[in-house]
Amino acid sequence: MEMGLQGRAAIVTGARQGIGKAIALGLAAEGVDVAIVDVIEDEHSASVAAAIEERGARALTLAADVTRHDFAAEVVDRVTDAFGRLDIVVCNAGITRDSVVWKMSEAQWDAVLDVNLKGAFNYNKAASKVMIDRRWGRIVNIASINGLRGKFGQANYAASKGGMIAMSKSLARELGKFNITVNVVAPGMVLTEMMGMVPAEFTRAALDETVLGRFADPEDVADLVVYLCSDRARHITGEVVKVDGGQYI
Ligand SMILES: NC(=O)c1ccc[n+]([C@@H]2O[C@H](COP(=O)([O-])OP(=O)(O)OC[C@H]3O[C@@H](n4cnc5c(N)ncnc54)[C@H](O)[C@@H]3O)[C@@H](O)[C@H]2O)c1
Repeated sequence: MEMGLQGRAAIVTGARQGIGKAIALGLAAEGVDVAIVDVIEDEHSASVAAAIEERGARALTLAADVTRHDFAAEVVDRVTDAFGRLDIVVCNAGITRDSVVWKMSEAQWDAVLDVNLKGAFNYNKAASKVMIDRRWGRIVNIASINGLRGKFGQANYAASKGGMIAMSKSLARELGKFNITVNVVAPGMVLTEMMGMVPAEFTRAALDETVLGRFADPEDVADLVVYLCSDRARHITGEVVKVDGGQYI
């Protein structure tokens, strides 16, 4: 399927590994120049950048903490300077700090809300200013099925992802008239490093929940994100799409 993405430019946050890496490579395979924005810049980011270039697209790695509101505008400027444009932002950077609420520290609450929700706000805001001028844009925010259903031990995480969903629907309403779509992808459990932090009994229970009998690979999520960024998805906005093998039906 022709995606119509050739020559576009994207920011993917948290793209040094896991789902963000798969999204960056999926976009690059469609001819999109990709800026990897991650709090850590190391040999993993360099290898993602090399893989982007192997696919024939340009790559940029930028070390930035998405919680920093002031950095977001600067990052967007650097990306538009390097690539000459910015069409797509995928807010994927995310963390967990799990605990039941009665034992959850203020620091655990704040860290998760800061990265997952404020981080997405920062980059949605900074990128939409550029997209409004161009009258074209695609914003995809990576939430979780736990932002829809809640999860034992993840009140902070579920609140951040639920907030992200509500923010995205509001932004979709604000940006529609500028030909900018805003959508949310809500994965179930995905085979990444983040999953390694989940206790084994929870992982087994989650696998039992999936009707397809397996967890997602990062590429299962990336394929949908690439589609939502494409011209093919031009009439889809304000939507929340699960990629969970039926984990939450
Ligand atoms: N893995 C899962 O099972 C799963 C399920 C549902 C949703 N998600 C969501 O998908 C996204 C990616 O998850 P993953 O499993 O690939 O995670 P991961 O931990 O493998 O990768 C997250 C990336 O985000 C970066 N990051 C963390 N804090 C940052 C910050 N403050 N600023 C910039 N970058 C930062 C990390 O350095 C890392 O490269 C997250 O938003 C997560 O909540 C994951």
